[in-house]
Amino acid sequence: MGVPDCIAIDGPAASGKSTIANKLAEKIGYLYFDTGIMYRAVTWMALRHEIPFEDETGVSTLAKNVPIDVKPPSVEDGRDYDIFVEGEDITWKIRLPEVDHNVSVVSVYPGVRAALTAQQRRIGLQGQVVMVGRDIGTVVLPEAELKIYLDASPEERAHRRHQERLERGEKANFEEILENVRRRDKIDSTREVAPLKAAEDAVIINTDNLTIEDVLAEVEKLIDQFKRGK
Ligand code: CDP
Repeated sequence: MGVPDCIAIDGPAASGKSTIANKLAEKIGYLYFDTGIMYRAVTWMALRHEIPFEDETGVSTLAKNVPIDVKPPSVEDGRDYDIFVEGEDITWKIRLPEVDHNVSVVSVYPGVRAALTAQQRRIGLQGQVVMVGRDIGTVVLPEAELKIYLDASPEERAHRRHQERLERGEKANFEEILENVRRRDKIDSTREVAPLKAAEDAVIINTDNLTIEDVLAEVEKLIDQFKRGK
């Protein structure tokens, strides 16, 4: 048998999930799907519609009723995909600090999670997908044949996020980013529904001292093991 049909990659903020998953998907010809963009899109919609983040019903209704369109990139500005909501290109807006700061609060709401998880599961079950998030191996696709949990220290992750921002030409403050990473870790891992945690059958990779190429090599080794085991 070949490559696992569904590959789940979970882990905390800026642990390198998206980069690894994107490269891996390209290599094996799978769809790369980052579920974080959906939580970010809902957060952006709440800002746009001036719905307070504390308004659980209002935010959950948005998640349920407003479609999030994810398509192949139409602009060459470093994006991996186009994200449109209500006709607006929000691909970069979902990376703004206001979104970063509030996305974990929005992600706690069971109504938001139910709406987004259903869409993610539908995409995942079509197979040949590398899906990235916090709860893919535990909730969205527990049947994924290969589950990976990427971790790194908060300092290392904040350093990576800081670099990303600077590379995009944005202003960035390391201490603020570190504080936000810690805060999001706490909210994400202590929420009641689908908290951030490694699935029991996930392989945990600590990426603190690893380059992207190192991590990719580890993941490819796991895929080879999977192939041999079948
Ligand atoms: O890119 P980064 O790792 O900073 O975050 P992300 O993957 O874009 O996810 C942003 C936020 O969405 C996370 O901090 C979680 O609160 C939430 N999220 C979630 O709850 N479940 C997922 N499957 C994906 C993201």
